[in-house]
Amino acid sequence: MKTITLNQKVLKSPIIFPPAVCFNWSDEMGYETVDRSNHYGIRAKGGTGLIIVEATGIMPEGLIVKKQLGLWEDGHIEQFKKIASACHAHDTKVIVQLVHAGSKSSGEVVHGPSQLTHASIHEITQRFVDAAVRAERAGLDGIEIHGAHGYLLNQFTSSKTNLRTDEYGGSLENRLRFPLEVLQAIKSATSESFIISYRFGVNDPTFSEDIYFAKVLEEKGVHFLNVSSGIPYGDFTKPDAFEFSNITYLGVAIKSHVGIPTACVYGIRQPEQAQKLIDSGMIDCVAVCKGILSDPEWANKYHMGGSVDACYECKPSCRYASDGFQCPWMKKKTT
Ligand SMILES: Cc1cc2nc3c(=O)[nH]c(=O)nc-3n(C[C@H](O)[C@H](O)[C@H](O)COP(=O)(O)O)c2cc1C
Repeated sequence: MKTITLNQKVLKSPIIFPPAVCFNWSDEMGYETVDRSNHYGIRAKGGTGLIIVEATGIMPEGLIVKKQLGLWEDGHIEQFKKIASACHAHDTKVIVQLVHAGSKSSGEVVHGPSQLTHASIHEITQRFVDAAVRAERAGLDGIEIHGAHGYLLNQFTSSKTNLRTDEYGGSLENRLRFPLEVLQAIKSATSESFIISYRFGVNDPTFSEDIYFAKVLEEKGVHFLNVSSGIPYGDFTKPDAFEFSNITYLGVAIKSHVGIPTACVYGIRQPEQAQKLIDSGMIDCVAVCKGILSDPEWANKYHMGGSVDACYECKPSCRYASDGFQCPWMKKKTT
């Protein structure tokens, strides 16, 4: 098995648990109302190589939902200490995803690229840094910058949502400025061994802008690219011969242009699917969200065999996305 190393830290498995908000498990002050050490700990015990703790707010004004985990004050550190030790007890590396939702924030005031002054951009950068420093104090192995799914940093990188005419908008170089400033500032404030991951939202259907950005992120010291979707500004379809989803293809396409470990995601439910992607060298790591939500032992089964507990594929949408306790798999386990 190829060994995956993120900033000199070896992953025990290439199967990673991508960030998944535990909706309704926090209060409005960024504190958990449901203990997460078991939630993450059983998935670490289940063989997962890297756990990326759910999207966590860097400031109350930038939350995705009103009740979301936070790292904007020192009091928040304790809840992450518990998560860190629960994962480290099983030799699983654990980082936290940091987010500002930008114009998709839950509050009344709009914080998109068109509204932010230079002073606000600098303040948000500092808030990312402060949260990253707290993550390190909590004993986490690193952080992930949320640059995908249409949130603030992705709103800056996409030409569709960034209509600024100053040095943060217009040319590709200008649109990348804000996320790169956040990256540089976090790197300067944290130790050299701290892992920096980037949830990379692919925007450009031709990939040319994204390939450029991915290479710049690598050059500037990002250790891991966790590739997902961004804000598309054109149609994109994967090649017919590629048997996985469009989103999975984005990861595979970016991986071939960078040297740092890269993950793909989306709809990978069976260990054999992950094996195909990894063994063929198409990707370094496979991110399994709903699969690991519904079977914490998924990664062990990837390595040792055995059938996985299937996700119920709830319609019209994942019930975990309203409250983890509503997930039929959770209900089965807790009754
Ligand atoms: C309940 C839930 C919460 C999620 N929360 C986040 C999040 O906090 N940050 C993020 O980048 N993606 C989030 N996602 C997206 C997942 O990380 C993943 O990309 C997506 O579920 C597709 O993978 P899958 O098919 O393996 O589930 C979430 C998905 C679900 C179902």
